[in-house]
Amino acid sequence: MESIQNTKLWGARFEQETNQLVEQFTASIHYDVRLFRHDIRASIAHCRMLARQQIIPQADAECIVTGLEQIRQELERGQLPLQVRLEDIHMHVESRLHELIGPVAGKLHTARSRNDQVATDLRLYMRDEIDQLIELLNQCQLALLDLAEREVTTLLPGFTHLQIAQPVSLGHHLLAYVNMLARDQQRLHDAKGRLNQMPLGSAALAGTTFPVDRFWLAQELGFAAPCANSMDAVSDRDFVIETAAAAALIMTHLSRLSEELILWMSPPFAFIDLPDAFCTGSSIMPQKKNPDIPELIRGKSGRVTGHLVALLTLMKGLPLSYNRDMQEDKEAIFDTLDTVKGSLALYAAMIPGITVRSQRMAAMAGEGYATATDLADALVRQGTPFREAHEIVGRLVRSALEQQVTLDQLDIDEAIRPLLTTEASVNARDVYGGTALRQVREAIQTARKRCTGKEPA
Ligand code: ARG
Repeated sequence: MESIQNTKLWGARFEQETNQLVEQFTASIHYDVRLFRHDIRASIAHCRMLARQQIIPQADAECIVTGLEQIRQELERGQLPLQVRLEDIHMHVESRLHELIGPVAGKLHTARSRNDQVATDLRLYMRDEIDQLIELLNQCQLALLDLAEREVTTLLPGFTHLQIAQPVSLGHHLLAYVNMLARDQQRLHDAKGRLNQMPLGSAALAGTTFPVDRFWLAQELGFAAPCANSMDAVSDRDFVIETAAAAALIMTHLSRLSEELILWMSPPFAFIDLPDAFCTGSSIMPQKKNPDIPELIRGKSGRVTGHLVALLTLMKGLPLSYNRDMQEDKEAIFDTLDTVKGSLALYAAMIPGITVRSQRMAAMAGEGYATATDLADALVRQGTPFREAHEIVGRLVRSALEQQVTLDQLDIDEAIRPLLTTEASVNARDVYGGTALRQVREAIQTARKRCTGKEPA
């Protein structure tokens, strides 16, 4: 008999050697190797459960666990050579275990299939990744909150249709992004709640003939419960798709922020400057300083959305239960997680270095008759119905445009004139959620408490 290391673990039923192209095409080891810590953790827990349930002898289990721990160290140190022939991380670990401890290694896969194994590994891996994303979202929010606090009194034009609309506090503008990222955190939190169920014990698809204790094993691995249906457990990738959807939305938010920073750094705006350490120059134009980081993050939002679409498309036609198609989930979700983590880390690092040109912003905040609504509101307070006030001010704006003067240079009620400054306009919006500086300061405090864990999310 050939030694087990030189044959495929599933090879007995086959007459022919696997075609080389097939080996290359089906191998996933070059990307699923990153699951090794979670794969070994799940295997150790599974092995201990098998011994507890007297499915395998205690001594064998101890031997297997010691072997698995050694393999983890070897992989940690990059000492285990990866081989296309061994397909994926599960086969690499099992095959190495055979080398280390001999035939006893063969007992590890009792009551288990690669189908429930890979589903468990991926859930464990993503649970950790989601925690990292939540932490990075927190760091970004804190960076935005520091900047918002620093710039509460800085006014800038608020836009709709990219036309000057009403002046707002820069702190208020930045808080809008803090709110988006807070929702992103909640979404990940929710997704993690649904993800946290354990496939092991489902085996290939129908469950196992051995008296496994799925509840003990779930608890051992930190899962809330075992998955309730074995066929769903091995074929469900909702948790991948939900996380990818949350990731796509994070990137959409970062992309919008990027777009604003790029516009704001453009000389016609000249609202901000990004730190040199986060910009690059041009190979031909010596004067250039380009906002490459926001540009790349805006660009990468496309690829993360692409991965979400790929995952949905991957799953939509699959019959129950496991299908090899599902191996394609990994590169999509790994790249998604890497991209989002990288983008969030860069934003958390870059935001503190943003220079705000507050005088330029303030000057632009008063442009474009930005306080025309305040004038209309003042007329309403004097008894004019709003629609009528809107029309009166509309005519005033037209005449001011013709005379090339500002609103407060027109012949208006003296009592109204002080209401038309940008400061007065901002502070007049003293409503919960509004841009009055008092409200913004309070909103910053509330958000900071949430981010520092002093208040529930
Ligand atoms: N590498 C495979 C995957 O990622 C592991 C599961 C393979 N199962 C199987 N029956 N071929 O999906």
